[in-house]
Amino acid sequence: MNAISLYAKPSSDFDDKLAETVALLRGAAAEFTPITQASSLGAEDMVVTDILHRFQVQSGVFVLETGKLHAETLGLLDRLQTHYGREVEVYRPVADDAAAFVKENGEEAMYRSLELRKACCHIRKMEPLERALAGKRAWITGLRREQSGARAEVEFIEQQPERVKINPLARWTWGDVWHYIAIHKVPYNPLHDQFYPSIGCAPCTRAVTLGEDFRSGRWWWEQESAKECGLHVAADGSHEGEEPAAFEPLSAVSPVSPLPNRAIPIRAIPN
Ligand code: ADX
Ligand code: SF4
Repeated sequence: MNAISLYAKPSSDFDDKLAETVALLRGAAAEFTPITQASSLGAEDMVVTDILHRFQVQSGVFVLETGKLHAETLGLLDRLQTHYGREVEVYRPVADDAAAFVKENGEEAMYRSLELRKACCHIRKMEPLERALAGKRAWITGLRREQSGARAEVEFIEQQPERVKINPLARWTWGDVWHYIAIHKVPYNPLHDQFYPSIGCAPCTRAVTLGEDFRSGRWWWEQESAKECGLHVAADGSHEGEEPAAFEPLSAVSPVSPLPNRAIPIRAIPN
């Protein structure tokens, strides 16, 4: 059973949501040039890239290649470029900074403290993000309200200090995402077929199992309130989930390897 057969159950107003998304993207691209899409190569981002292509919305696409992505994700980066015949911009961390961090703190530093985890995210994601967004008037994400409590209020358009953030799938359900993937044969990360609903860096992502939340496989040793890497900042300027986070060093919690693939994942399947 693959992700499409498990999840592809659209909302009754799917067509309206798609029309709303296309109108938003067209309007944003017309108003905020230059604009670019931040793609993690997750299911939502693949849908957004497909919509940009299918509806001829002029926008760049970039990926933050942290140096810690799964082989499956890197494979999808190549497939995406072939499938759409377009180039995706790839931003990597400053090699010396990443190497110095690992030398000083080890490959598994992220499991030892929240501070070290955030420092790793800063070097591998935040600093490259700054470069990716330099000179851009707007950026497009795949954030959805349904993804987590911290994202429940995500707006379609967010004014940030330096640019505008567009969240065209804010209202989409997981079923809508997979319905779109199914009907348009959008390439997707094979990890989604192995119960990885939300995919980030390999050391910080694992499969989920029955009853677990959508983002429970991300930074799974941290509590819900900590689970953001800093890419997404709330409208009031605070980082989503920045509140005091309960953190247990991973060695005290569970093995690093992903859970075995079993059972039906996440509670958001039916619509
Ligand atoms: S994260 O902040 O916890 O990593 P998540 O994986 O849910 O976020 O992705 C949310 C959105 O952030 C994606 O839809 C995408 O727009 C952007 N994003 C996340 N990771 C990357 C990445 N590696 N490269 C580019 N954009 C990303
Ligand atoms: Fe480092 Fe994990 Fe953050 Fe990736 S998600 S940048 S590996 S701490």
